[in-house]
Amino acid sequence: MIITKEEEMMLNGERGEGVQKAMEIIVALGKIYGAKNLIKIESAHISGVSYKNLGDEGLEFLEEIANTGVKVSVKTTLNPAGIDLDFWETLGFKRDFAEKQIKIIKAYEKMGVKTTCTCTPYLTENKPNLGKHVAWGESSAIIYVNSVLGARTNRESGISALASAITGRTANYGLHLDENRLADYKINVKCEVKGISDFGALGYLIGKKIGNKIPYIIGVKSASLDELKALGAAMAASGAIGLFHIEGITPETNMKKMIKENVEEIEITSLKEAYETLNSDVKDIDLVSIGCPHASINEIAEIARLIRGRKIKTELWITTSRYLYNEAKKQGLIDVINEAGGKVIRDTCIIVAPIEDLGFKTLATNSGKMALLAPLHSKVKVRFGNLNQCIKAALEGEWIDN
Ligand code: F3S
Repeated sequence: MIITKEEEMMLNGERGEGVQKAMEIIVALGKIYGAKNLIKIESAHISGVSYKNLGDEGLEFLEEIANTGVKVSVKTTLNPAGIDLDFWETLGFKRDFAEKQIKIIKAYEKMGVKTTCTCTPYLTENKPNLGKHVAWGESSAIIYVNSVLGARTNRESGISALASAITGRTANYGLHLDENRLADYKINVKCEVKGISDFGALGYLIGKKIGNKIPYIIGVKSASLDELKALGAAMAASGAIGLFHIEGITPETNMKKMIKENVEEIEITSLKEAYETLNSDVKDIDLVSIGCPHASINEIAEIARLIRGRKIKTELWITTSRYLYNEAKKQGLIDVINEAGGKVIRDTCIIVAPIEDLGFKTLATNSGKMALLAPLHSKVKVRFGNLNQCIKAALEGEWIDN
């Protein structure tokens, strides 16, 4: 692998111990994946933030790195933490957990990371442009950046994204290269796909069918950005997909042929299997959760419209970024939701927060990703359906089938 003079200096420790360690990680990855060189990145996004996942070892590791004085060298944002950093106490999270979580955030802050605590940094201040190279963690953000924005990242781990953020480099392999961005399967969608939950259901099915390969989807005539966000998140969770193309919708398909020759075609004629697999049979709902990936301003506005002037009977949590919370506050949406009894929660989500400590046993969501992960990570039984069904569950306290 060829590295530049500057990269060699980083590797030799001439830019400090922290930079050296980070460069060692990047070079090791480059060698493993057969990269010919390293490339400069425009931004990084770091996953691996919640104390629920990192534990004491992760916290110690991050504090150790931060104490070397090392700083990130490119714009770097942070994934959700395990608590709302302001309202954790009111929400019922334990002090011990919160204190450790805040230490993790401080360690990142010390390294110059923007502590955005969101999985949708692309809806805030970190939105890479078409063709730009970045190093991002968080599977739902990776797939959005590659597919919807047409920027380029591999599926980075928390550690490799941090190493890239520090060095400003990533190894040039995988999805950074043109030839690796061509689809391996054609997915012919022959049923109606409408709304966030349908797109999540479709994503779930595609991920299940093709694992970590790249799909080229035909038959989907239109999709909003929120629907694409839900589609990618589910696909990246049920499979390990880092990039999808939708003919005529995602940007690279309008530039050139993005599919390999003679690939297998898979038909999807119904979403029923996804809805059946992702649903349990619970009726009483403890918590309705919207915002996986973190809710956009349009999603928050739609919920406010649906519950304006009404009173909910169960907990309703809308998880979003601090950035969009402030925007929603300005637009009066937070007040509408609060008056109805709902909560708009920043910095965290149902999966990375220790919600099992709060006594919730059943959950309703319109997110395919959350429906898949919540039973495993948060030990709840799930109902998965469209936004209207979820809001109805919040208003009635129980799930009502259409
Ligand atoms: Fe984001 Fe949490 Fe879902 S990190 S993608 S809201 S599981």
